[in-house]
Parts: sequence; C-alpha cells; structure tokens
Amino acid sequence: MSAEPMKRRLTAVDIRNRKGGQPIVSLTSYHAHTAAIIDNFVDFILVGDSLGMVMHGLESTVPVTLDMMILQGKAVMRGASHALVVVDMPFASYEESPSVAFRNAARIMKETGCGAIKLEGGRHMAETVRFLTDRGIPVMGHVGLTPQSFNTLGGFKVQGRDEEGAEAIKADSIAVAEAGAFAIVIEGVVEPLARDITDLVQVPTIGIGASPACDGQILVLEDMLGLSPRVPKFVRRFGSLAAHIEGAVRDYADEVRARTFPASENVYLPKVSSE
Ligand code: KIV
Repeated sequence: MSAEPMKRRLTAVDIRNRKGGQPIVSLTSYHAHTAAIIDNFVDFILVGDSLGMVMHGLESTVPVTLDMMILQGKAVMRGASHALVVVDMPFASYEESPSVAFRNAARIMKETGCGAIKLEGGRHMAETVRFLTDRGIPVMGHVGLTPQSFNTLGGFKVQGRDEEGAEAIKADSIAVAEAGAFAIVIEGVVEPLARDITDLVQVPTIGIGASPACDGQILVLEDMLGLSPRVPKFVRRFGSLAAHIEGAVRDYADEVRARTFPASENVYLPKVSSE
C-alpha cells in the first residue's frame, strides 16, 4: 500500500473558507490533458463557457449549449483529481426561472460529477442563487462584465466606471453573496471598485481584469499561455505556445516534405530475422 496520503478534492466550502486568507488560484480548462497539467497548481478549475470563443472560434459565448458544457465538464473531471471543478451554466439555461435553472444545473452536476456551477448576473439572479443553494447546488456568482450580456452591454467593456454603475455592481455582489453564493467572480472593473466589493462581501472575490485587490484570480488558460488569437489587454502572457506550436509544425512539415526524418522516427522498423 502507498504511504502517500490521498489528496482530497477541494470543495466549494473549502473555497468559501479562504475569504481573506491565502489568495485563491484559478484557471480555466476545457480538456482532460490541460486539466491534468494545471490540477496541482490551482484551487479550482473553471470549465468556462469561454470555450465557445477559445475552442470553437465563436464571436461570443451566447451560442454555447448545455451539451457543450457537459461534454467538456466530463473531460476536465477525468483530468483533474485535486482542484474543485466549477462548470459554467451557458446563456439561456438558467435565466427563465429558478426551476429551469435547477433542472439544468442538476444535469450538469449529475452528468459531469463537478462540485459547483457558475452563473452570471446580480440582483435579478439572487432568487435563483438561493433556490439552487437551498437544494444542494453550490453556486459561484459572476458580476461586473458578464460576457453572456455582450449584446445588451454593447461589447466587452470595463464596467462600473461612473458612480451609478459602481453602486449597481456593489449591490449585485451583495445580493448574490447574501443569496448563498460561495464565491463571486468580478470581471472587468477598476481596482477601487474591486477592493470595495472584496471588503463588502463575506465570500471570496475572484478577479479577472479586476486588479489584485480580490481574494483570488482567474485567467483563461489559453490567453495566459499565448495560444488564443484574441487576448484581452489586461492579460499577462506567461508563455508563447502559439509560436512554439507553429515552429514545431513547420519543422515537421519540412522534414516530411524533404523525406529527411531519420528512419528510426515515426516508422515501425521491419523485424530483423534471426535466421
Ligand atoms: O467563461 C469563462 O472562462 C469565465 C471566466 C473568464 C471567468 O467566465
């Protein structure tokens, strides 16, 4: 028997209890292989509906379906064994009513085995957040720039720049936290607002384009690796994978075309007869 103690998978309650403590580290992943690589370094993995834009080249997250989220959620659960896995509820899968939201969130939880769901919206979603959490579904909120509302926001723009907008995002954050969310993603707001919200709510805030004033941070993995063709301005690139892949594929194509790859590579060699 192994002497190594089994590492338990983190839960929504573990993340909730990190408020004001060690910063919470998070990345997105949509695949088993990237989930396995990042699992030891992050506290939670978000299967974000950004997969529509990052993996599928869509213009926004609006066309993403529940089936797409469930398929990639299952893949991430196969790859990760330590981090909490949170799966995004896609546009139109929860806004209609708390019971529609429950039916779809329960499907995500049952079919993927993930530990929580995330949904976008503030005060108008508070009743739904309460309905889900009362029925055993841990909910992560998402306020500020909410990409599923891209058509009503008029694009992917920084939110809460004027006083009225900032007060609205504060009220949204408080409503979602009081309704039972275990953490809240704050996207695309300036530092003083992110700091105020972090001070105001009792649950961890997770920033994306929202300064280090939050309790944790999240980035889209492909953006920070330099693999996404379009990257938001605030993202620091920690790698340049697109250039790396391009170089490797160019070398491979050159070798194949010139028939120069060594006979020991990429081929099964004929067995040498011993007679
Ligand atoms: O879909 C996503 O990847 C997200 C993060 C950007 C927070 O919601």
